[in-house]
Amino acid sequence: MSKAIVIFGSTMGNTETLAASVVEGLKEGGKEVTLKNVTDAKIEELKDYDLVVMGCSTWGVGELQDDFISFYDALNDDVLNGKNAAVFGPGDRAMYPDNFCDAVTIIEEKLEKCGAKIIEDCLKVDGDVDDALDEAKAWGLSVAKNV
Ligand SMILES: Cc1cc2nc3c(=O)[nH]c(=O)nc-3n(C[C@H](O)[C@H](O)[C@H](O)COP(=O)(O)O)c2cc1C
Repeated sequence: MSKAIVIFGSTMGNTETLAASVVEGLKEGGKEVTLKNVTDAKIEELKDYDLVVMGCSTWGVGELQDDFISFYDALNDDVLNGKNAAVFGPGDRAMYPDNFCDAVTIIEEKLEKCGAKIIEDCLKVDGDVDDALDEAKAWGLSVAKNV
């Protein structure tokens, strides 16, 4: 069975909530899934997975969620070579129309730079994540089917 890791950074729990639904979808799609808060994730372990999914909220004005910053900085050139990847996150379009879910885009660009293949359009969730759980699960399933 192909193995996936979902790594999330979440200050108030919204990305974590979305991550749980993404995991459900990935599992439905036949993946063996490990879910980790970015605070517990290690760069070295990425090599153990065929599929790397990252979830991150946007803070400040268009910035990565705090916990994600050191992990993002530690991602280097070769660590994701040949890996399949996809990125999701929540944001607030009304409050931050010019920086809506920027963290998702920033991470996606970094993953590509590090050699990963983005296999699904990113998922950017606007507002209350509880309204988007089905969408997040469907997205996870779609990601799983692309590997
Ligand atoms: C101080 C602050 C800054 C924020 N900045 C942005 C932003 O630049 N872009 C955006 O789309 N959302 C922004 N948000 C919205 C958060 O990303 C959103 O509340 C998200 O659901 C938080 O997820 P988390 O609980 O997983 O950290 C901001 C929220 C706060 C409170």
